[in-house]
Amino acid sequence: MYEKIKETAEWLRNRMPNAPTTAIVLGTGLGQLAQRIERLLSIPYAEIPNFPVSTVEGHAGELIFGRLGGVDVMAMEGRFHYYEGYTMQQVTFPIRVMYELGIKTLFVSNAAGGTNPDFQIGDLMIITDQINFMPENPLHGKNIPTGPRFPDMSEAYSHELIAKADEIAAKHGIKVQHGVYLATQGPTYETPSEYRMFARWGADAVGMSTVPEVIVANHCGIKVFGMSIITDLGGTAVPVKVTHEEVQRAAQAVQPLMATIMEEMVKTV
Ligand code: HPA
Repeated sequence: MYEKIKETAEWLRNRMPNAPTTAIVLGTGLGQLAQRIERLLSIPYAEIPNFPVSTVEGHAGELIFGRLGGVDVMAMEGRFHYYEGYTMQQVTFPIRVMYELGIKTLFVSNAAGGTNPDFQIGDLMIITDQINFMPENPLHGKNIPTGPRFPDMSEAYSHELIAKADEIAAKHGIKVQHGVYLATQGPTYETPSEYRMFARWGADAVGMSTVPEVIVANHCGIKVFGMSIITDLGGTAVPVKVTHEEVQRAAQAVQPLMATIMEEMVKTV
């Protein structure tokens, strides 16, 4: 496994037009940010040795090297979800490669269902912490020597970066929520009872991604900042239907705000 990671990193290192220390996983809600990146090189995942190939509709599946607001960045357009059938090692493979390439800070985004009764559809939530409710931990198995066997997770999302994001949001007059993101395996959305249970457990939002990548980033000592777009409220009180289209539409509407925060954040690190 570690050999494959190093092999892929070496392959990319020989082609990289720049040497970014910042990486972005362009999940749901960051499509617009992708357009703001001045591209120097885009490589389809299918062409990268050992890279899993993205299957979900609407995810382009490209690794981008470029500049955002004058800063060198590496960006994943399209991520790998556990529900698609990838192993946890495949889901987090790109993060391990990023570490080998010198990435120090990771920005992530996702769409999530709000379990906090104070949230509204279209809210932006700065992720303050996470709960791994996926059936597996990506560090399961032999320890890869980028970090300890039993990694600390007391600051999975950098407090310093959260404080910076708060300042940026205030400066731009963008309302942000704060909350805990819980990840399930998916692909089902939650039953009303599950939403209620997750709320009682301390989750403010629930989704199907991000948590594995953030665990691996922490294992590598990469600082993380993440945001969720609250695309639905999951019927914690009264059952409501949640559809993929609705989630996409709600995410679309607040994309520019999230992109603005992320772009400014990239400039500060
Ligand atoms: N649950 C899980 N994943 C999601 C949701 C949700 O309500 N909304 C967007 N992604």
